[in-house]
Amino acid sequence: MNKACVIGWPITHSRSPLIHNYWIAEFGLKASYEKVPVEPDKLEDFFSRLKKGEFVGCNVTIPHKESALKFIEQPDDRVRKIGAANTLYRRNGIICATSTDGDGFYENLLAHVPKTNLSSATICILGAGGAARAIVERLLEEEPKAIYVFNRTLERANQLVRDFGSILKPTSFDTLPEILPSTSLLVNTTSLGMTGHQALDIPIERLPKGAIVSDIVYVPLKTRLIERAQSLGLATVPGLGMLLHQAVNGFELWFGVRPQVSKQLYDIVARDIDPGYKS
Ligand code: ATR
Repeated sequence: MNKACVIGWPITHSRSPLIHNYWIAEFGLKASYEKVPVEPDKLEDFFSRLKKGEFVGCNVTIPHKESALKFIEQPDDRVRKIGAANTLYRRNGIICATSTDGDGFYENLLAHVPKTNLSSATICILGAGGAARAIVERLLEEEPKAIYVFNRTLERANQLVRDFGSILKPTSFDTLPEILPSTSLLVNTTSLGMTGHQALDIPIERLPKGAIVSDIVYVPLKTRLIERAQSLGLATVPGLGMLLHQAVNGFELWFGVRPQVSKQLYDIVARDIDPGYKS
């Protein structure tokens, strides 16, 4: 039986088993996907289990996305550029790695706003952490005019420019009101707006009518940013779809078949997050 898993510490709240076991059942595979709690100082032990073939691969989440790099034998170009991996898989006994967050973000964007065209667009990214790096790496493929990166800690935004080039403009939050009127896509990658965190308060009424507002936060399913954007009549991209779409590539790498993100799967995971959710 082919086994895959997600490693993290803590790992109790991961929804990845719900997603992958849904697809395993849908395809009728003899396979399983489980949560494996791995303490930060036990990462090497886990990698020796992976190397021996106990798992066909795994997802990597907090706090291992960056620390896992030193045990990965073959990182792809994306992992090298982003400096983090979320999906590991074995090929001929070698531990390979990729990052599927960028594709997950972009597929979710297209699922909500199918006609998106970011060529020559101005994009604003809030945050400069691991998620921002993965999203920026993918968005650069669309050849935007500029990507403004707003971050509380400016040095982290500066690092993105050093790593990804001068299309990126590190910017402090104070200048956001000036940039919003020419923005086509605004993406929140910070934890602001998440249940239990501070709210994100920015003047999105300054965005042009055709702008898209995207939030990678999915607890709550609809953040205040998304609600406000909807009430302004802007196109919106809530975060849960990114979690679902980023899982597609991993599933295919481990089990050899490409799953679909269906409405039924969306509803199952949405209900797990918010029992009061209505489709
Ligand atoms: P991830 O891998 O999910 O991107 P991360 O690397 O911890 O997680 O990054 C979290 C992002 O949210 C960062 O951009 C962080 O800003 P800093 O680099 O200044 O820490 C941002 N963030 C978290 N809490 C914040 C807050 N209260 N105000 C502003 N930004 C915040």
